[in-house]
Amino acid sequence: MTETQKPTGDALAPHVLVLFGATGDLAARKLFPGLYHLAAAGRLPEEYVVIGSGRHSPGSDEEFRDQLREKLTKTVDDLDTAVLDDLLGRVSFQTSDSDDGSDLAAAVRAAEGEMSSDPQDVRRLVYLSIPPAAMQPMIAMLGREKITERGRLVIEKPFGLDLDSSRELDAALKDVVDEEQVFRIDHFLGKEAVQNLLAVRFANGLFEPSWDRHTVSSVQIDVPEELGLEGRAAFYEGTGALRDMISTHLTQLLGFVALEDPKEFDAVTLRDAKSAVFQAMRPLDPARTVFGQFEGYRDEKGVDEDSQVETFVAIEAFVDNDRWRGVPFYLRTGKAMKRGARVITLSFRTPDTEIFAGRAACNEIQFDLSDHPRMRVALQTKNPGPDMTLGRSYMTLDMGEQEHDEAPLEAYERLLLDVLRGDQTLFTRSDEVDRIWQVVQPLLDDRPEVQPYAKGSWGPQAALDLPAGGWVLR
Ligand code: BG6
Repeated sequence: MTETQKPTGDALAPHVLVLFGATGDLAARKLFPGLYHLAAAGRLPEEYVVIGSGRHSPGSDEEFRDQLREKLTKTVDDLDTAVLDDLLGRVSFQTSDSDDGSDLAAAVRAAEGEMSSDPQDVRRLVYLSIPPAAMQPMIAMLGREKITERGRLVIEKPFGLDLDSSRELDAALKDVVDEEQVFRIDHFLGKEAVQNLLAVRFANGLFEPSWDRHTVSSVQIDVPEELGLEGRAAFYEGTGALRDMISTHLTQLLGFVALEDPKEFDAVTLRDAKSAVFQAMRPLDPARTVFGQFEGYRDEKGVDEDSQVETFVAIEAFVDNDRWRGVPFYLRTGKAMKRGARVITLSFRTPDTEIFAGRAACNEIQFDLSDHPRMRVALQTKNPGPDMTLGRSYMTLDMGEQEHDEAPLEAYERLLLDVLRGDQTLFTRSDEVDRIWQVVQPLLDDRPEVQPYAKGSWGPQAALDLPAGGWVLR
């Protein structure tokens, strides 16, 4: 059992968790199931309560708990009724909005007063799962009502909609809290497979020496999604794939792939290393970017009939430092594509040998970041038979097949636990966000035209042609 995986419930301070967006989709699919799993594993503090909040009341506390019970019964397998009853027994709802949070502040103080510890020792975790436009006024309200005292603020992406608005959001945060209290969540960083990237590279002599421009010819970070909008048209119309996926999840993955040895796995060193990658990133070139929109998007309920919002993005990025100069990083994601995957591929240069001149081919290391993480190495090997002919072979490592003491934590579950522990390692820091917007801003100032693509395809033709050798997933 590793240090970070220890059940830590007993060691954690008493907590009041305030969940904005508690009746929303993310809360139902990830946050409450995450809390349930942490409770079942004994990883939550001994004393805690959860106060859901938002403008619209879901009814009485009892009704809210019944709704949660129904949703959790659908999303969690092998539900333990005793654990569920205990969790729901700690849940209540208090309406609030950015103009008036006084009742919520009173509810937080009352909950603290009922705990056995001194209220000053109770920590507050405030989770803001709300649209970008609602973020700033809500943060101001939390400051006004002093709910941020002894609090940690979890902020859902996108962190602003462009460079200017992200700076305004950052200033609003800095008005009420210190950076140490801000947890900008990017759930991809909570995925076991993503953290495994660091382990595979830095703990293995086979890989670390080959991780640079001398050996690697290109990197692809590919997250096609088979799913369409799933009822999120309103969110998508205001956000688009560039902000929803590229400037957040995929760029963070790029940071993980490209960083220098952070020396430690902690909030300062890891984020310094990632931030240095973003500093070295070249601002994106609209001429080397493809925006797409799946056919039928404009017919979806809630979508403008002339919408220019991109549901697909493919970009070419460069990290202009000594390790990566000249190596293209291709990032691609889109909705309603041929199949869903989350794959990072490093392609290696073809060796300059004489024996197989013209017959050697590039190797690839591929990391499959799905919930069943796998790693695959593509090699050239000798075909069986009397002649020296070469063919493609694959070495596949199923990381989920190894025996471990601990079950992997789902991404949100892991990250919620980190917030309770006050560990910011896997959360995005303000300087990272600022630099990423600087890198992305040229695409917002000079938006590539959206090109249509058929549902169930790999995106517009221009995107297929973006990497010189094509996409590995095709
Ligand atoms: C979310 C995006 O952050 O990540 C969604 O808003 C996307 O649009 C999702 O579908 C993908 O996450 P995962 O973990 O399902 O790959």
